[in-house]
Amino acid sequence: MSNPNGIEGARNGSQPPGRAFASRVAWISPERQTAVMDIQATEIQAATPSDIPAIMLVERMEGYARLVGRWDAERHATEIENPSCRYLLTRDETDVAGFAILQGVGSVNQRLRLKRIAVRNAGHGIGSNFLRSVLRVCFDELAAHRVELLVFEDNERAYRAYVKTGFVEEGLVRDLHRDADGNFRSMRLMSLLRPEWVARP
Ligand SMILES: CC(C)(COP(=O)(O)OP(=O)(O)OC[C@H]1O[C@@H](n2cnc3c(N)ncnc32)[C@H](O)[C@@H]1OP(=O)(O)O)[C@@H](O)C(=O)NCCC(=O)NCCS
Repeated sequence: MSNPNGIEGARNGSQPPGRAFASRVAWISPERQTAVMDIQATEIQAATPSDIPAIMLVERMEGYARLVGRWDAERHATEIENPSCRYLLTRDETDVAGFAILQGVGSVNQRLRLKRIAVRNAGHGIGSNFLRSVLRVCFDELAAHRVELLVFEDNERAYRAYVKTGFVEEGLVRDLHRDADGNFRSMRLMSLLRPEWVARP
């Protein structure tokens, strides 16, 4: 069965590391590709192309423009089919409450990049809980050794969410990003390694 997250269901149990989550998604709920993880009551699912409009709304929440990247529908449609990418999301009663995009699935270095994470309702712990669920997928299902990310140096809320989840700051990458107005902005490089994740309290 082909599926929208670029994941092939492996029904014979012989999938390589990192495919386990994928195949579980394909197994459990063909319609919504639902994989339910049990972390702090945050349900996490693989997104499908039909979720792209809701994901784009979250990317475009008021005040997020300087905090998080955004893609158009075409780019999302390409990335969601990319086998080295995973789109994960959490829902509330009404709609998509947050999403995350992982890159680097299947890399020989077992290095995943948390390319993007955002929740609709920031500042209430929802994103931090979702982040823990995403990390569990990274380490338990996608066989990551290292999960890394870049965060704008003035994005204090996200930085604190990452620190309290166990990420370590590795340094400031200077003038990495150029805004539309021509200003350059620096970003913090952060990472979390498997031994640190395993040893978390
Ligand atoms: C980043 C994000 C997913 C974190 O999820 P969240 O649910 O907002 O996280 P929390 O509510 O647990 O807040 C994280 C920390 O920031 C603090 N915080 C909350 N609002 C804040 C604000 N406006 N400014 C600074 N810190 C703030 C919280 O107190 C918490 O710290 P503490 O637990 O040490 O007290 C979410 O804020 C988000 O979607 N932000 C917009 C997009 C974005 O910035 N994405 C990250 C790009 S790298």
